[in-house]
Amino acid sequence: MNYHIKDIALAAEGKRRIEWAERDMPVLRLVKERFDNEKPLKGKKMSACLHITAETANLARTLQAGGADLALCASNPLSTQNDVAASLVKDFSIPVYAITGEDHETYYQHIRAAIEHQPVITMDDGADLVSNIHSDYPHMSDSILGSMEETTTGVIRLRAMAKDGALKFPVIAVNDAMTKNLFDNRYGTGQSTVDGIIRATDILLAGKNVVIAGYGWCGKGFGMRCRGMGANVIVTEVDPIRALEAAMDGFRVMPMMDAAPVGDLFCTMTGDIHVIRPEHVRVMKDGAIMANSGHFNVEIDIDGLKKLAKSGPKEVRHLVDEYILADGRRVYLLADGRLINLAAAEGHPASVMDMSFATQALATEWVVKQPQRLQVGVHNVPAEIEDWVSRLKLKSMNIGIDELTEEQKKYLASWEMGT
Ligand SMILES: NC(=O)c1ccc[n+]([C@@H]2O[C@H](COP(=O)([O-])OP(=O)(O)OC[C@H]3O[C@@H](n4cnc5c(N)ncnc54)[C@H](O)[C@@H]3O)[C@@H](O)[C@H]2O)c1
Repeated sequence: MNYHIKDIALAAEGKRRIEWAERDMPVLRLVKERFDNEKPLKGKKMSACLHITAETANLARTLQAGGADLALCASNPLSTQNDVAASLVKDFSIPVYAITGEDHETYYQHIRAAIEHQPVITMDDGADLVSNIHSDYPHMSDSILGSMEETTTGVIRLRAMAKDGALKFPVIAVNDAMTKNLFDNRYGTGQSTVDGIIRATDILLAGKNVVIAGYGWCGKGFGMRCRGMGANVIVTEVDPIRALEAAMDGFRVMPMMDAAPVGDLFCTMTGDIHVIRPEHVRVMKDGAIMANSGHFNVEIDIDGLKKLAKSGPKEVRHLVDEYILADGRRVYLLADGRLINLAAAEGHPASVMDMSFATQALATEWVVKQPQRLQVGVHNVPAEIEDWVSRLKLKSMNIGIDELTEEQKKYLASWEMGT
């Protein structure tokens, strides 16, 4: 078996972490049990480009239980957990191409290795795998039954490809499933972004002015958690509805130019480019900290920061780079502007990835079970999968809900009854 990982000797620790995460993934465990019996993915070659974490390992084991012949590569150069990668290779015989801190060239070599596995199904987190197949392996497009996409930025890229007529195979917007973004993007990113910032810096959030760029699902989750820890939260937005929502949730809303001199900690989570630029950094306080939790490391203009600074980057603590401005003020950039929750912490907790990855596994099965290949385009996850995942998650949490009575069903379907 081919693979490229940091060190196979790390496998024992990785296995312990994979098993620990599995305890908190009851819905995925049920999918795995059924897949093991029914083998819906039997003989199907799959390549997945995901953050190589303990939770992803449990998704990989589920797909393997379903009969898939799977290869994995990283969807971010900093997010790989080397011990998990080692265990996937040693204990579960899954080829992995991922090493924490890999350079740009190695990152793309790993993506190519996953593509050369000759998948008929792909899974992506940010659409790097799909876009590489389109640009460098276009002959493979016809044989691909479908690709699952995990994150907002990936879905945006895929919809742009579909709009331009460039998309060559069907993709499923798993990110857009409510069982994914309502929980993973909000509660997962919310908690793990706080976790990443604290692990990287050890700062106290209470009393700090925390500036959040973007009040989407991720921004809402992070905002609610920062407030819970005593921070004064400021939101910057470009969408008037989201801005209103933030204001009515009780946060201060202002343009980045006004927030820049006030903030102690800045975190971008927009999926956009150059949200924090040199003109903002120029007016920041001495000691201001910048981090990003959006998909790509383009939200903070790092080249602009380097040009603006008199000196830096100087690593003053693991994953904390200091830049000194002309007048001696210091600003700090965390994790080179990459996803802070995955670079400095462990990504989302297993309990929330349970829902995202059960949705991923079931969407994969749905793609394979179609009588004919789905039409080329971006498809939503079927409602019955979302219903199943949410009901089982509730059950695993011992939460019961009411059912509509016959009278209520009739009432809700009728238009005759009014005032
Ligand atoms: N860190 C993680 O683990 C993780 C998890 C899920 C999603 N993501 C990524 O986080 C990003 C946001 O995801 P989401 O689901 O919250 O998306 P979303 O579309 O729900 O929200 C993004 C928000 O950013 C706003 N925005 C865009 N440009 C802006 C700008 N210049 N200034 C201020 N606001 C701006 C948009 O109006 C929108 O409200 C994406 O890149 C997504 O892929 C990261």
